[in-house]
Amino acid sequence: MIITRQSSIRLLFSLLAVCVGLSKGLHLLQHASSIPRAHFVIYFPTFFILETLLCVSAWVLLFKCTGLKSILGTAVTVGITFLSYILCASQIGFYLVTGNEIRWDAAKAAGSDPEGVGLLLSGLKSFMGAASLLLTLSWLLKNGVYFVMNHWFSALFSSPSIETADAEGLLPSSPRKASASSPIRLWTIMAAVTVATLRLTRPQVPYNHLSGAIPFTFFQELRASPKQGHKTGEHAFPLAALVGEGHFKVWAPGTSDSKSESRAPPAWSSGHLPPGFERWDERMPIRQTGENDTLGNQTTPSFYSPMDDPLRITNLDQEILEPLARALKDHKVPITHVILVLMESARKDIFPLKAGSHLHEEILSSYNTRNPKVLQGANEKLSSLTPVAEKLTGESGGFMKSQTISRSQATEWENAAAPGMGGINIDGILTGSTLSFKSAVMNYCGTGPLPVDFMVEVKAKNYQPCIMQLFDLFNQLKENSTTNNPRFQRPHGGLESIHDRNWTSVFLQSITGLYDDQDKLNEKMGFQKSICREQIEEDDAKHFHPGMEEINYFGYPEYEVYPYLRDVVNNTIKNNERLFLSHFTSTTHHPWGTPKDYPVEQYFAAGGLMAKHEDMNQYLNAVRYVDTWLGDMMKVLDEFEIANETLVVFVGDHGQAFNEDAPVSGTYENGHISNFRIPLLFRHPLLPKLQITANATSMSVVPTILDLLVNTGSLNEMDSTAALDLMNEYEGQSLIRPYQATHNGRQAWNFGIVNPGGTMLSVGSAAVPYRLILPLNEDFEYVFSNLDTDPNELTPLRGWSLDELITSVQRVHGDKAGTWLADAEKVGKYWVEEQKRRWNYQ
Ligand SMILES: *[C@@H]1O[C@H](CO)[C@@H](O)[C@H](O)[C@H]1NC(C)=O
Ligand SMILES: *[C@@H]1O[C@H](CO)[C@@H](O)[C@H](O)[C@H]1NC(C)=O
Ligand SMILES: *[C@@H]1O[C@H](CO)[C@@H](O)[C@H](O)[C@H]1NC(C)=O
Ligand SMILES: *[C@@H]1O[C@H](CO)[C@@H](O)[C@H](O)[C@H]1NC(C)=O
Ligand SMILES: *[C@@H]1O[C@H](CO)[C@@H](O)[C@H](O)[C@H]1NC(C)=O
Ligand SMILES: *[C@@H]1O[C@H](CO)[C@@H](O)[C@H](O)[C@H]1NC(C)=O
Ligand SMILES: *[C@@H]1O[C@H](CO)[C@@H](O)[C@H](O)[C@H]1NC(C)=O
Repeated sequence: MIITRQSSIRLLFSLLAVCVGLSKGLHLLQHASSIPRAHFVIYFPTFFILETLLCVSAWVLLFKCTGLKSILGTAVTVGITFLSYILCASQIGFYLVTGNEIRWDAAKAAGSDPEGVGLLLSGLKSFMGAASLLLTLSWLLKNGVYFVMNHWFSALFSSPSIETADAEGLLPSSPRKASASSPIRLWTIMAAVTVATLRLTRPQVPYNHLSGAIPFTFFQELRASPKQGHKTGEHAFPLAALVGEGHFKVWAPGTSDSKSESRAPPAWSSGHLPPGFERWDERMPIRQTGENDTLGNQTTPSFYSPMDDPLRITNLDQEILEPLARALKDHKVPITHVILVLMESARKDIFPLKAGSHLHEEILSSYNTRNPKVLQGANEKLSSLTPVAEKLTGESGGFMKSQTISRSQATEWENAAAPGMGGINIDGILTGSTLSFKSAVMNYCGTGPLPVDFMVEVKAKNYQPCIMQLFDLFNQLKENSTTNNPRFQRPHGGLESIHDRNWTSVFLQSITGLYDDQDKLNEKMGFQKSICREQIEEDDAKHFHPGMEEINYFGYPEYEVYPYLRDVVNNTIKNNERLFLSHFTSTTHHPWGTPKDYPVEQYFAAGGLMAKHEDMNQYLNAVRYVDTWLGDMMKVLDEFEIANETLVVFVGDHGQAFNEDAPVSGTYENGHISNFRIPLLFRHPLLPKLQITANATSMSVVPTILDLLVNTGSLNEMDSTAALDLMNEYEGQSLIRPYQATHNGRQAWNFGIVNPGGTMLSVGSAAVPYRLILPLNEDFEYVFSNLDTDPNELTPLRGWSLDELITSVQRVHGDKAGTWLADAEKVGKYWVEEQKRRWNYQ
């Protein structure tokens, strides 16, 4: 029994040592390349201080205590070892799946959300793999580790070696050890002094982060509220020279006097206003409605003022793009309904996939051949990946269509728009956040999200009215207007039949609506009705049917909401209403599951290397699935004959980085450009087909919809007045007018929050091709890229300090880039503080 006990204690110790050692090894591996090699070598020993102390303490507790202390010590060590084991296995598992570092606070947040557990469990396989590996390794090393530690300890304290060990005959004889004791002790003391000196003299950044050790990091991250470093407190716009009087105060509602400080309340704001319009409410700021709309206890909330926003550049003073203006003069373009399709993980390069794109080349290169037959076969498959996206956007994939692959063509959606018609397709759009629901906030509300971890926005008050709330406002304005007020009765291009109808807003998705409090967010943003997994899977749901197949941990494929979509459209028509429908696609979400009977294509070369491409291949299949679905959605509009009066906005929530794009895959703490490039399309069969490029973000969605509604004459006079007025309140520019990249020396900056929100920020500008990933705490590096010379960010520059990075950027990209980088850092930090102020977040 004694041997068994000894053996299991050795295993225990070995497990602890292996876990903390490997964990640190992996941690260092992920950062090694970012640190000058000499520094890395010099400071190397200081990275292991915590692990050494932990192991020494465990050793003492396990082997040097007797009696009750021994039992207690063993218990404590068992606890710590078990925790370290779990943490290390998670860390390695997470690395294997994403190539990234796990953060315990984020893992906890996902785990405490019932719908997030599925997300965590999706990594179970790699976790188990890592766990078995650790256990095996510990088993193999247990005697070796014991021997080394025992030898060292005995030498250190000149104590006779432990009898039981001798009894097993695993250790060399005692005399040799005793003789070795004094040099070892000397070496140990010297090493300790050296390490301590290095530790005290080394810079904090990045070495403190590098030294982080499990299980300590676990407790630190759980205790601390998400680290939000770089607090500036007092903040003023850093590029003060550019914001002299009159430089940006270009607009004031109800008056043409740009310098007017006191803003007259606009006419539309005189009555009772729906939620979302608090800042026009004259009763503000005395708000006692019971709702705590700020996160803290703030009594005087701060509001957004477009006139005082030095980052805002408007283009509403520009003329509408010429072809569009001409078409609007030519014929009526009714927009009775608006549908906003938020497309999960939709990269710009799959909407549609194009021959010659980086992605296409990656796929072809997996075949490792120039054989035209083989490549032609691959291209034939790819030619039918995104046919609907090709028709919608008017961008040809550029693949030779083959006759044989017309499997689905008979049933494929037919684009009924006349030649040259179809709407405005925009290239160059980046998402404002790679966290889906933060991105949703931008798309529905034209608001920049909060640069803090997780969906804090759910509890905070949005600083802009969301589009659903705008439609509510239009409904309320109609209570009194049309019949009583002759001012608002003027006909407008013969569209008055739709003007008096009320708007209704519906949200539709086939997966859970509970993850990350999405249901609460939807309600807060003003959706009148949401249909999600929870509504459709009830036995008594209208279109419930047995055998509904879940395709991922969040729920069902899009087709499960098809009958509900038809009902919504049918009801809208029956009730003579105007519809704002938003649909969030979901099959393209990790793990990219498709229904069992859906034929999974092999786009990358089969064979040994396939494993490397498995995720991307799965994603492409999901993309094809969703492409067909989007066509079927469009068919519903044709079938109910509302296609000619419906604006359909397609926009990605964020992109998705894969192995093929970047060293780290996924959106989590990954600022890579492939996570940011998204499609944006304003589809209407009676609008001319325009292909424009604008280096903008999804902040432009709401102002562009409003601009289109007003300029197509789809709103009555009162609503138009309100919409014109409100358009000017948003930060984003309208994409049906020439995009203004600069104004009086100021640039149109683009900010993108990196999932989970508070750790890093993407800072770019429409005026230059540069891009900065700004770390928001000391655990991350600065990353700079020049998208002109490196459009796919294959070789970004990195630095732990800004000065260091500026030096290398100047060397590689010139002084102009270096100056921009210095500005970008300041502007990014300003924006972070400014966003917190706007959201009343403390
Ligand atoms: C409609 O008129 C009533 C009575 O004049 C007024 O109290 C209410 O605020 C008005 N509503 C709107 C939206 O103007
Ligand atoms: C608002 O906050 C106060 C104080 O923090 C609290 O007592 C009250 O219950 C809160 N009200 C709501 C509606 O959450
Ligand atoms: C909230 O406001 C109340 C009353 O103004 C004050 O007594 C309390 O200390 C405040 N709480 C916080 C957390 O600021
Ligand atoms: C339109 O909506 C408003 C406010 O929600 C409501 O008062 C009005 O009765 C509605 N009108 C119709 C025709 O349903
Ligand atoms: C629309 O709804 C009505 C019932 O309200 C139903 O009779 C009709 O079949 C529906 N139309 C379609 C095309 O689904
Ligand atoms: C839509 O408009 C086009 C072009 O004016 C026309 O050819 C087509 O018939 C219309 N479709 C419907 C369903 O009204
Ligand atoms: C947008 O950015 C890209 C990449 O930096 C650049 O090549 C392009 O010219 C820019 N487009 C516009 C319209 O500014």
